[in-house]
Amino acid sequence: MSEPILEVKNLKKYFKTNSGIVHAVDDCTFSIQKGKTLGVVGESGCGKSTTGRCILRLIEPTSGSIRFMGEEITTMNRKQMLGVRKNMQIIFQDPYYSLNPRNTVYQSIAAPILQNKLIPGAKKIQIEERVLELMETVGLAERFINSYPHELDGGRRQRIGIARALAMEPQFIVCDEPVSALDVSIQAQILNLLQELQETRNLTYMFITHDLSVVNYFSDDIVVMYLGQIVEQAPAEKLFDKPLHPYTKALLSAELEPVVGANTKRIQLKGELSSPLDPPDECRFAKRCQYHCAECNCGTPPLIEVEPDHFVACHLVK
Ligand SMILES: Nc1ncnc2c1ncn2[C@@H]1O[C@H](COP(=O)(O)OP(=O)(O)OP(=O)(O)O)[C@@H](O)[C@H]1O
Ligand code: SF4
Ligand SMILES: [Mg+2]
Repeated sequence: MSEPILEVKNLKKYFKTNSGIVHAVDDCTFSIQKGKTLGVVGESGCGKSTTGRCILRLIEPTSGSIRFMGEEITTMNRKQMLGVRKNMQIIFQDPYYSLNPRNTVYQSIAAPILQNKLIPGAKKIQIEERVLELMETVGLAERFINSYPHELDGGRRQRIGIARALAMEPQFIVCDEPVSALDVSIQAQILNLLQELQETRNLTYMFITHDLSVVNYFSDDIVVMYLGQIVEQAPAEKLFDKPLHPYTKALLSAELEPVVGANTKRIQLKGELSSPLDPPDECRFAKRCQYHCAECNCGTPPLIEVEPDHFVACHLVK
């Protein structure tokens, strides 16, 4: 078994608002092995992006530990953190908003190279060579080098985002819904590119998505989040074969095509995900759970290893 590149323990991120305290990420613990992909799945607002942003310290965690390549990063100063960031990058959902509309492809990809002095004392020609090399790596034709983001389709814009992340030669990338803003036909191309890059560069991914079919295709392990908490965590195959948490079961039954003749029933998820504002000490899924019973009324269920490598937070799954 390879060593973990990232270990997150009891991570919390609370936002103080006028209406109360939003428990966006509430006591999450997980790790990612080097060269592997951890899929993070859950409905909108469950805390996926906040978790990813805390890991890169783009926002400050409220508490908890984040160890990256063996080092605690939550206590690092700005300068130390800049060093770490060369090794951890993020790809955003909508490249249109993460790219400066006034910058050409060349300027967008050259920016991290220049800002981080990745080629010390480099002349323009060397920077241009590196930009072209990165464009080739992500499958962006040379003729687009002077194009602006609005002149390109979503897939090509996302390729710029990936090239910018790769410019730093990172070992770990948080992919925050990298294909959900793209047409289905282009989604597959970008997923294939990310997979190819992982294989050739031994990259480690935290892959955030609300799309279970994407997470199944892509992940070694999966974390299912609900209102800021991890409710189930397992190797991908195990989670898809034998989901144990009522929320995971409902998500899977809604997403996957029923097998012809199989005794599978679609579980309706009633109501919307509520807000993680000042949540009471109880199971956060209780209001939507079809199995809710008296046994559930004894505080927030802890995440327990119910079989090897399979963790579930439900009072009825032991
Ligand atoms: N700066 C902020 N101030 C207050 N609340 C916030 C802030 N950022 C996020 N939140 C809240 O934290 C919760 C988690 O948000 P987050 O963006 O992490 O969810 P998500 O799972 O990434 O959702 P989506 O799938 O829509 O991207 C939400 O309730 C959101 O409204
Ligand atoms: S603890 Fe109870 S309410 Fe919560 S998921 Fe389990 S069965 Fe449902
Ligand atoms: Mg998000």
